[in-house]
Amino acid sequence: MPESERFDRRTWVVHFRTSRGAGGVEHATARAELIAAARHLPVAIVHEHAAFNRVWLAAPPECEAKLLALMPRLGYAEALTRVDTHVGAGVGVQHRPPEKIERWLVGEYRRGDDLEVHTLIWRADEEARRARSPHLRQFKMRLDGEVQRTLSRRQHRRLSCCDAMVMLNLARVDDGALVVDPFAGIGGIVLEARRFGYRCVCGDIFAALAPGLREMAGGPAAVWNAAALPLPARCADAVVTEPPYEAEAQEEVIRAMPEIARILRPGGRAVIMMQQPLIGPPLQAATEAGLRERERCLVRRARGMRAPILVLERPTADCDPVAGEPDEHE
Ligand SMILES: C[S@@+](CC[C@H](N)C(=O)[O-])C[C@H]1O[C@@H](n2cnc3c(N)ncnc32)[C@H](O)[C@@H]1O
Repeated sequence: MPESERFDRRTWVVHFRTSRGAGGVEHATARAELIAAARHLPVAIVHEHAAFNRVWLAAPPECEAKLLALMPRLGYAEALTRVDTHVGAGVGVQHRPPEKIERWLVGEYRRGDDLEVHTLIWRADEEARRARSPHLRQFKMRLDGEVQRTLSRRQHRRLSCCDAMVMLNLARVDDGALVVDPFAGIGGIVLEARRFGYRCVCGDIFAALAPGLREMAGGPAAVWNAAALPLPARCADAVVTEPPYEAEAQEEVIRAMPEIARILRPGGRAVIMMQQPLIGPPLQAATEAGLRERERCLVRRARGMRAPILVLERPTADCDPVAGEPDEHE
């Protein structure tokens, strides 16, 4: 039997990022993303160490290929190590300090009477992540009547691609799903949604962004007001979006909530990132429109801003207060 197949117990350690872009990473958010993304896999978190940003997963050994395929879809995962435990084989073995690659334990060492073999089997592609960073990728904008390639550093609408991935994972939809971003900005969510294999419908009120958004979406991008979406009821499997933070835009954000409820299919989720102090009125409007809060995950943004991601769900058809309403777009 090859050495790699000899073990008494095999587990995996998912190492979360400690930071991305300008802010740190909340362990609870990384954990929620993992649970949502791995929902179809027979995995369970068996141990975790929030202070070291990692969780241990138990899964059948044949699940490893699926775990490896999942990792690049996690915005907050940085590495995956496999841990093979040889029960009782540590007796008489001299304890050595564990080796590390970056901050991930690798190599053989003794835990109690057991011997553990830690192997790094995946690490995130940081080059690819940086290439998708909002302040490093170019974006087409219509400026002074001409379409120009700009660097979005100028635009102050920057959602890290890691945060966009977390949001998409929290939506819990499968390949081919239709995801709508009504406040699409320079397309951080749109870009990741496409990479995930979702169909994406997006738009923004700021017409200058349309050429770049079209490029990000690989299809149409609308100039629209999110408070009056030209989309049919129940068309979206998920709405994933980051509304504006400016105080003067908040009335429209509140008015967008019933629209988001209307276009979601029953059972679909709206995943919305907001700034902590601005949550109250839009959340109330969303609740009045029939959406139910299912989850709330914190994201640390630049300059100490704390931005919760709200995960709201439209109830399934049998108990859906929005379902009976007429729809002028149908
Ligand atoms: C925080 S930014 C979104 C950033 C986006 N997630 C990204 O990755 O670039 C909010 C966007 O909402 C747009 N916006 C503001 N009011 C709007 C409205 N009523 N309808 C649609 N878009 C609106 C702004 O033009 C801005 O691009």
